[in-house]
Amino acid sequence: MLKNTCFATRIFMIVLALGSIRTPQGQSPAPQLGRNSLKEVIAAMTVEEKVKLLVGMGFNADISGLPPIDEEDRRTPEKVVGAAGRTHAIPRLNIPSLTLSDGPAGVRIDPMRKGDNSNTYYATGFPIATLLASSWDTETARRVGAAMGSEVRDYGIDILLAPALNIQRNPLGGRNFEYYSEDPLIAGKMTAAFVSGVQSNGVGTSIKHFAVNNQEFNRMQSNSVVGERALREIYLKGFEIAVKESQPWTVMSSYNLINGTYTSQSSELLTTLLRGEWGFKGFVMSDWFGGNDAVAQLRAGNDMLMPGFVAQTEAIIKAVSDGTLTEKQLDTNVERVLNIVLQSPTFKQVNSSNQPDLKAHAQVVRGTASEGMVLLKNDNDALPITPMKVALFGNASYDLIAGGTGSGNVNKKYVVSLDEGLSSAGFNLDESLRQTYKEFITDQMAKRPKPKPFFPPLPIPEMSVATDRLQQLANMSSVAVFTLGRSSGEFEDRNVENDFTLSADEQKMIESISNAFHAKGKKVIVVLNVAGPVEVASWRNKVDAVLLAWQPGQEGGNSIADVLTGKVNPSGRLAITFPMAYPDVPSARTFPGRELVGMKPYLQNAFAGKPAEAVYDEGIYVGYRYYDTFGVKPAYEFGYGLSYTTFSFDNFKASSKSFENPLKVSVTVQNIGKVSGKEVVQLYISAPSKRLKKPKNELKAFAKTKLLKPGEAQTISFELSSKDLASFDPSSSSWIAEAGTYWLNIGSWSTNIKASGKIELAKDIVVEKSQKLMLPPPGLKEIEPRN
Ligand code: BGC
Repeated sequence: MLKNTCFATRIFMIVLALGSIRTPQGQSPAPQLGRNSLKEVIAAMTVEEKVKLLVGMGFNADISGLPPIDEEDRRTPEKVVGAAGRTHAIPRLNIPSLTLSDGPAGVRIDPMRKGDNSNTYYATGFPIATLLASSWDTETARRVGAAMGSEVRDYGIDILLAPALNIQRNPLGGRNFEYYSEDPLIAGKMTAAFVSGVQSNGVGTSIKHFAVNNQEFNRMQSNSVVGERALREIYLKGFEIAVKESQPWTVMSSYNLINGTYTSQSSELLTTLLRGEWGFKGFVMSDWFGGNDAVAQLRAGNDMLMPGFVAQTEAIIKAVSDGTLTEKQLDTNVERVLNIVLQSPTFKQVNSSNQPDLKAHAQVVRGTASEGMVLLKNDNDALPITPMKVALFGNASYDLIAGGTGSGNVNKKYVVSLDEGLSSAGFNLDESLRQTYKEFITDQMAKRPKPKPFFPPLPIPEMSVATDRLQQLANMSSVAVFTLGRSSGEFEDRNVENDFTLSADEQKMIESISNAFHAKGKKVIVVLNVAGPVEVASWRNKVDAVLLAWQPGQEGGNSIADVLTGKVNPSGRLAITFPMAYPDVPSARTFPGRELVGMKPYLQNAFAGKPAEAVYDEGIYVGYRYYDTFGVKPAYEFGYGLSYTTFSFDNFKASSKSFENPLKVSVTVQNIGKVSGKEVVQLYISAPSKRLKKPKNELKAFAKTKLLKPGEAQTISFELSSKDLASFDPSSSSWIAEAGTYWLNIGSWSTNIKASGKIELAKDIVVEKSQKLMLPPPGLKEIEPRN
């Protein structure tokens, strides 16, 4: 039996055997997890053992200001080097240590191990979550999850600290790249599919950061002040869908407070809602060093404290001994954790090969990345292009940004840059331009100041190219491609200037390339290698085509080339609105909030920030719900995206004219263009608003067609339940579908409705009755549309 198990597992089993041999004479052997019932195992645990299980370990970095870590923990060798954390083993009871590792775009572990020169431990760098969401295809998310989950298993990890599904409330959110969308339905559906993919490998996930964690500014001590309706309909909805549809093994509570209570200390959030209303079965872990009261966390249902520090252990033991925390509560927390331990690959002694199929996964990256790229502009069919002589501009063309920074970064073996991708696709690149860029980038990177540990690297300036050289290049090349890059990540939000907006250097480059190439009748294509919206309105008229490639993972250059050449017809659609200007963003005035001067900080270190508050006064009017309802025209609408072909939508059918539960809706999509392609079908509902004001349109269902050949058609069907018609009414704490006329609008984006029909609902339906939870302070004023 020992033959097929890995070295670490064998050691663990030997330790275990020794443990039972050493059982004091006369005493019956200690119950063993897996062999005895959970009840027996828990009954045999000392308070110290229970606390040990609930307080994690594995954080070894020396950062001043962080609470002291147990020295013995620090010395315990890591099973997987570079993983974010572990739980404690209790060998006496056959409880192994679980390993937890980030993150949403791939397994984050160290690629090299001390004393092991013959092996490497690279993981695949997958496309960022924002790109996956832009595929509008849950199968794409599932595929990526399944591939990533197999790396989790092959590297001997038990739980992937992903996916992350906070709402992209504001384009400046530093971690938006880890999140899916401004819309909770997309976020929830993508998460559910991703979780199913990962967990199909027998490993777990931790959906994070629960909840209302939409910024990095003062992230560990910021209070998100949010109304009940917005909380339910926007910020919790995605989590609700994900929990109900995919039962993730764990949930990670967030750093922030909601209406004055740390999420990790809110029993309303973690017990009443998550477990009571939604039926979550796994355990909740804190975000790393999140919250300020270990006892309150356990009581609230935050079962695992990560990454664990000495003061937490002491506080819990003291609380049990002085009776402020019951042992029964500890038992509840322990039972939830042990239930997951029982399912874990470590407990089941699954062999970790340390040899994931990186080659096969690179193909998954290449294919899924092109699935989520969005063609924003394509005047006079500037794209696709056949291999030709191309002048390739922009730092990011040669140093492609595959993903974001911080815990969502992946230690991947390579990144295919766009120059490499285009060369492999048969394009002829100007060699001297390539050389100049490479030298410039190396030089600028060497010169830039080092970032603070863990913080994102500072950007380097865009290289400028002199007018005469541009003219030469325009003479010699058939087309110009300029890539605009943006990097962002954990610990910092983005800036408006030179980040959301283009820098003067970038504006000038676009202008000069455009002048030089258009003068010769040659096209200019811009590739956006970004994680979130940038300003486009001021420069898009100067170029012929814009491809939003996002941060596409390690095969990025190949995936972009696939779309530019038409090998893949773009079928991505925006899952976040691109505003005309930053002040148009509904949360522009209130993001990222303000510091609460004079309030005592709980933590003081480079990451903790200060006590702060962000007032979500836009309420439910986030993203397109705001732009559509308040008549603010964005640069590119939610759901927007072009194709190299065109589609017709016909044959709209609803199973009934009055609402029946479920209501079946279908439409036939036909490819009426000249090349094969996929279309995204988006179903929006425009609901009556007598009792509650409603957004003009709300996404209620979506699907992507298969690859349709020219002339080919496919009928797409949806089922709507009464919950899809309902809004959350704070006055009665219930989800209510109001009586009246509902328009069912099907389109290829939110303002491009191609087929619609209406149904009547005769009487109000109270779809679900809930209760008052996490109430905002009295007097919170939210914006409202006039009618
Ligand atoms: C992040 C989490 C991450 C954890 C462990 C925290 O800083 O917020 O998303 O999973 O670190 O790396």
